[in-house]
Amino acid sequence: MKYVTFGTTGVQVSEMCLGTMMFGERCDESESARILSACLDAGVNFVDTAASYGKGRTEEIVGRIIKDKRDRIFLGTKVPQKTDSAWIRSSIDESLRRLQVDYVDLYMIHWPRLKMDVTDMMAGLDAVVRSGKARFVGCCNFPAWLFAHCNAIAARNNWAPLVCNQIPYNLLERGVEVEVLPQAVAERIAITVYRPLSMGVLAGKYRPGEPVPEDSRGATDARPRAWLERYGEGIGKMLTFAADRGLHPAQVAVAWVKHSPGVTCPIVGASSLGQVQATVKAFDIDFTDEEYAQLTAMFDTAVKEESGGNFVGLRRSFELLA
Ligand SMILES: NC(=O)c1ccc[n+]([C@@H]2O[C@H](COP(=O)([O-])OP(=O)(O)OC[C@H]3O[C@@H](n4cnc5c(N)ncnc54)[C@H](OP(=O)(O)O)[C@@H]3O)[C@@H](O)[C@H]2O)c1
Repeated sequence: MKYVTFGTTGVQVSEMCLGTMMFGERCDESESARILSACLDAGVNFVDTAASYGKGRTEEIVGRIIKDKRDRIFLGTKVPQKTDSAWIRSSIDESLRRLQVDYVDLYMIHWPRLKMDVTDMMAGLDAVVRSGKARFVGCCNFPAWLFAHCNAIAARNNWAPLVCNQIPYNLLERGVEVEVLPQAVAERIAITVYRPLSMGVLAGKYRPGEPVPEDSRGATDARPRAWLERYGEGIGKMLTFAADRGLHPAQVAVAWVKHSPGVTCPIVGASSLGQVQATVKAFDIDFTDEEYAQLTAMFDTAVKEESGGNFVGLRRSFELLA
């Protein structure tokens, strides 16, 4: 496992972040503990959770299974449902109680909300940092302009800035290549990537032209089936690419995300020990730029804009700054 600097924090985290969204949902507490142990043994020191997972149950499970391992883990959790300061300050206390810790390393806004008061939100996050309940604050699912807007407010008030943006990114969903990833490189924003396997569609669990497996998340969520139908041809090519190299498809999909400019840590989610044992090996893979381009070209998923011309390319350029 390699370690990378987490944005501007100076903290070294493992390239792999373990996602816990399935803990208590699709895997019970003892399997969750086995998944966590296997990851720690592989050198993972970064764990992502959220107050909203299992309506708090996931944080409780994480709290119990990291109890004697807390000092080895950079632990992140998220503010559920709302973004106002009073809510943030009470939510952190509830998360700390469920997690059985004195502080988290990273406290993130889970989603932007319509009509949010950003100054109030940044004041609330700053209060959490000043009280020692979180070392750093960040967000998920923020457009680039909103992230910059929040940090301009933080800078004017000498408040703690957002240090990371957690976003969905994979071979099928590539919207963040426009502005979010170039911004991250320019501003040294840590980018953690969720859904690197498109919920399992890129992990070989689903086969183009075959029904969605009954024991999959696709049995209760319409997105995997839709992606499979739309991108079946590319998925087929990617499965062949993996088989030709003796790799598990999940390793290929995660290694592609890891290789992408602007990405700090892919977040690996799993619902069994066997899955995580397979996926963790992605972090031993270093694709060449040629292999990376070959995989990217299997899917016609780059964001397109009708206007054409220079503006389209500039919005995803990593080379605008000297
Ligand atoms: N901030 C946010 O808004 C947000 C949103 C979503 C997720 N997250 C975070 O990101 C993490 C990852 O998200 P995700 O679970 O959606 O990611 P994902 O990697 O796209 O999907 C994980 C799913 O892929 C399947 N899978 C994983 N490894 C596999 C393997 N080796 N072989 C076959 N199938 C495999 C499993 O599906 P089955 O369970 O069907 O077997 C697993 O539940 C979460 O745990 C959470 O921490 C954050």
